[in-house]
Amino acid sequence: GAPVDVDISKLESGMLLAVAWQGKPVWVVNRTKEMLARLPKNDSFLLDPKSEQPQQPEYCKNEWRSIKPEFLVVVGICTHLGCSPTFRKEVGAADLGADWPGGWLCPCHGSKYDLAARVFKDVPAPLNMDIPPYKFVNDNLILVG
Ligand code: FES
Repeated sequence: GAPVDVDISKLESGMLLAVAWQGKPVWVVNRTKEMLARLPKNDSFLLDPKSEQPQQPEYCKNEWRSIKPEFLVVVGICTHLGCSPTFRKEVGAADLGADWPGGWLCPCHGSKYDLAARVFKDVPAPLNMDIPPYKFVNDNLILVG
């Protein structure tokens, strides 16, 4: 499939932008400083905090799983059976518990991911969500694919 341009010039801090690439949802999240600061605190609750599983591209093998810390670019498909997880960025959401750090919740079987799309332990999904091939064309434009 053809690469897809994503204009991030209007993507406000803390917000998610969804595009389609190769028939899949790709999300770009402009993470706030608070969101980024929280990521290392999640590590002990995660299955693969350093993205060491072999399907992960080199540029996601860091705490943010991204080329630029603030911009997460991820394929928005649960690695269990392929549902689309729900963006739940609110820390301590009432229905998810006071220790919920923000991230995604899969509506199908309850898999949870943090704001780097890293999967939690003790949920059905076996892998972090996929990071697609992408690059920054300039500060306002990402090319996915
Ligand atoms: Fe997401 Fe099963 S498809 S938890």
